[in-house]
Amino acid sequence: MSLRKTNSVKHIDCDILIVGGGFAGCGAAYEAGYWGRGLKIVIAEKANIERSGAVAHGLSAINCYMGMRWGENTPEDFVRYARGDLMGLVREDLLFDVARHVDATVHMFEEWGLPMMYNKETGRYQREGKWQIMIHGESYKPIIAEAAQKSVDEVYNRVMITHLLTDAHNSRRIAGAIGLDVRDGTFYVFRAKAVIVGAAGASHIYRPRSIGEGAGRTWYPPWNNGSAYALLMQAGAEMIQMENRIVVTRFKDGYGPVGAWFLMLKSVATNAYGEEYEKAHLDSLRSYVGAKYADAKPMPTCLRNHLMLEEIKAGKGPIYIHTERSLDTREKEELGWEDFLDMTVGQAVMWASQNIDPKEDPSELTMSEPYVMGSHAVCAGAWVSGPEDFAPADYNWGYNRMTTVEGLFGAGDTVGGSAHKFSSGSFTEGRLAAKAAVRYIRDHQDYKPELNTNAVERIREDVYRPLENYNVGRHVIVKGSVSPFFITPKQGLQRLEKIMDEYCGGVSSYYSTNEKLLDRGLLLLQMLKEDARKIGAEDLHQLQRTWELNHRIWVAEAVMRHTLFRKETRWPGYYYRADYPHVDDQKWHVFVSSRYDPATDQWEMNSKPVHHIVP
Ligand code: ADX
Repeated sequence: MSLRKTNSVKHIDCDILIVGGGFAGCGAAYEAGYWGRGLKIVIAEKANIERSGAVAHGLSAINCYMGMRWGENTPEDFVRYARGDLMGLVREDLLFDVARHVDATVHMFEEWGLPMMYNKETGRYQREGKWQIMIHGESYKPIIAEAAQKSVDEVYNRVMITHLLTDAHNSRRIAGAIGLDVRDGTFYVFRAKAVIVGAAGASHIYRPRSIGEGAGRTWYPPWNNGSAYALLMQAGAEMIQMENRIVVTRFKDGYGPVGAWFLMLKSVATNAYGEEYEKAHLDSLRSYVGAKYADAKPMPTCLRNHLMLEEIKAGKGPIYIHTERSLDTREKEELGWEDFLDMTVGQAVMWASQNIDPKEDPSELTMSEPYVMGSHAVCAGAWVSGPEDFAPADYNWGYNRMTTVEGLFGAGDTVGGSAHKFSSGSFTEGRLAAKAAVRYIRDHQDYKPELNTNAVERIREDVYRPLENYNVGRHVIVKGSVSPFFITPKQGLQRLEKIMDEYCGGVSSYYSTNEKLLDRGLLLLQMLKEDARKIGAEDLHQLQRTWELNHRIWVAEAVMRHTLFRKETRWPGYYYRADYPHVDDQKWHVFVSSRYDPATDQWEMNSKPVHHIVP
């Protein structure tokens, strides 16, 4: 790759910059377009918004729908559900806010052409479970992206945001972002009055179960590299619950979803000897975490994992899900296949390749490697201001979903404490953030963002340095891809995954860690950070990989620091602090928070109160 190609610089001035065109970004775009008439609104997306983000490949269900028009659920019910699932620690104001608006979002999706499944008897959406409805969702993302695209002034596809920029005169106020065009190498300098980050959580922080050429087969998409957090942390935003990583129970190897099977088709899971282990271990679970948590309905996701893990550790695997007992009608069989074909085609291919007929044979279940995200049954992310009418005073500093950096908003995986949003809730949260961002801009008419040109120039050198590292070092390859002068992004990634897996509770230690392991892991991570400055990128694709890795390392550090700070095991089945193996409500019924200070290069760890608002 010629370095000359990287000389091109484009300056974009706008009012609102939306970072990431996934579901949260699309929701933000739609709502900003509605309220922000006269404002210039742009999206920067590292892929193409038509097929980007966690919903890129389609979904078979919308997992967050209240059904208020049919009296199915209330927002308060939803808060109680998500709170129970997260072992008590959620931002109830944020959950309530999503819940009261999410149905309207889903109704819009239907208007825009999303094919819903209807229950012929009730005339309502076909329920998969109490909160989930089924859709014919292979083209879910393109349908929603079209609406977003029509709502904004410009969409910059193939532009990866690598850094956020704060104002030249106020380091606690947002003023723009830096983007790298991953196709032609152009350096983008965005200047914006408000920025809404709807970028993704992270896969490939931990070593995946899949190996070799199959390593890209993970549950959460491999392209989700934690920009949602890394960008914010580097800008000095306060984060919470970064220790709250998720492990998901999946069909083995293809990572096919289990929701439709457990909730709708009522499939049961057993160990290899046919025993229904969840029922068998309920008493021991009660004595481990207390009845309050063990008896929550439904049982918290992490605890379901915990029971499966106990079974695997006892040598009673493989664990099977008995699809063959559920598919007793043609309709159910079709539904089962469509569940995979709409969102995880690879799992249907696994069936075919292993001669499994789900009508005849059970399928293996497994527990995934951990992922860092905030929209599924988990809630890592930024500490944000809550809704004005519902948030307690210490959760509210003016603008809904604004982080602790002025003018910097978040939605979807970016926002901490706001679990169980899934696709519809993330879009809804994008809408809430955008409406507040428009108001923020209108309230600050006089504000003219100013960038620090020296800082921008420094970042420009940093962004392209891996190309230079490669060009200088490539003549001294020792063997294969081994160079004394640089490491490749893939080598760096594998080293990161190994550190996190072995020291911070990955699959190889059955998700277990302790203070000593974490201290050692942090040390090794610091060394990786030093070496990461010497990554060599042979082309723009590898340059993108370098910046993705850089963001992943930031996320990993936050996960380690948070895991070290919380001296309890709050979510058995997600991870275990072996030196503090129990839930400790007396000391740790709090959010763990952190803030990286860009001025001093120091991290501050703290805790924040969890307010229970909904009885
Ligand atoms: S998906 O994101 O890939 O669709 P999954 O299939 O695990 O995830 O879950 C779909 C929905 O069902 C989520 O809302 C999840 O929390 C819920 N769910 C999955 N399994 C169970 C279960 N055994 N009990 C209760 N809820 C479940």
